[in-house]
Amino acid sequence: MGEGAPDGTRVDLPAEKLPRHIAFIMDGNGRWARTRGLPRLLGHENGASSLRRVTRRCRSLGIPEITFFALSTENFQRRPKTEVGFLMKLLKSYLVSEREELLENDIRLKAVGDVEALPADVRAELAETERLTRDRGSMVLRLALNYGARQEILEAVARIAREARAGRLTEEDVRALGERGFRRYLADPEMTDPDLLIRTAGEYRLSNFLLWQCSYTEIWVTQELWPDFDVPQLDEALRAYCSRERKYGAVSPADLAARCPQGHA
Ligand code: FPP
Repeated sequence: MGEGAPDGTRVDLPAEKLPRHIAFIMDGNGRWARTRGLPRLLGHENGASSLRRVTRRCRSLGIPEITFFALSTENFQRRPKTEVGFLMKLLKSYLVSEREELLENDIRLKAVGDVEALPADVRAELAETERLTRDRGSMVLRLALNYGARQEILEAVARIAREARAGRLTEEDVRALGERGFRRYLADPEMTDPDLLIRTAGEYRLSNFLLWQCSYTEIWVTQELWPDFDVPQLDEALRAYCSRERKYGAVSPADLAARCPQGHA
């Protein structure tokens, strides 16, 4: 067992095996409210508190990158206006209220998605929080806002087409980009592939989230609803992740040894 977190907390999570980037699909806010006979909006409000708790835990464990699916393109277009309006208010107040804590904890806030479609006051607070935290380097907290992975990939292709039309890229250049080079055209070229994707509320779907980046991501689905997702649930997911063997399409050394004993390769 590792000693655990840089904050000195002894945890049964080997620091060297922890994921470097965790992505979260925060599902079940509505169900959480419904089972309590509360308005859906309260589910989102409590969901924002979970996001805060999870961020603190990840920071204390020294995880350098976390990405939350806060609002999908589909949510933005298809939810009732009152709900989207409430989410916008919640987001705006979060962006203001978290600034101090982000700065104190050396956390950089970034957004991906079509933020131009968000209300002007939300965009302004987002830009300000991104600006204030842009030199912070211990952790990136990324919010996917009005985000869709297919749209992100299409946008990348459109950027490449623009470069080609301007004579700055040939077909051979595009092929030579490879997977790493293609990343430059995605929404955040600095984003690494998530090692772990956590989805709450028992749904087994990617829901158009980080499709390019999650090709080899380990997935953890919990029945817990997002507003109930707290440190013990996160630690459980992390323990499971630490015990998994990541093979990226290869054969594990143990299996290889079993199949090809020395001298019989
Ligand atoms: C899915 O639950 C969740 C969302 C559409 C919004 C997620 C937003 C938050 C957790 C809080 C806001 C974030 C910030 C950064 C302030 P759902 O409503 O679809 O749940 P259901 O499937 O049970 O109805």
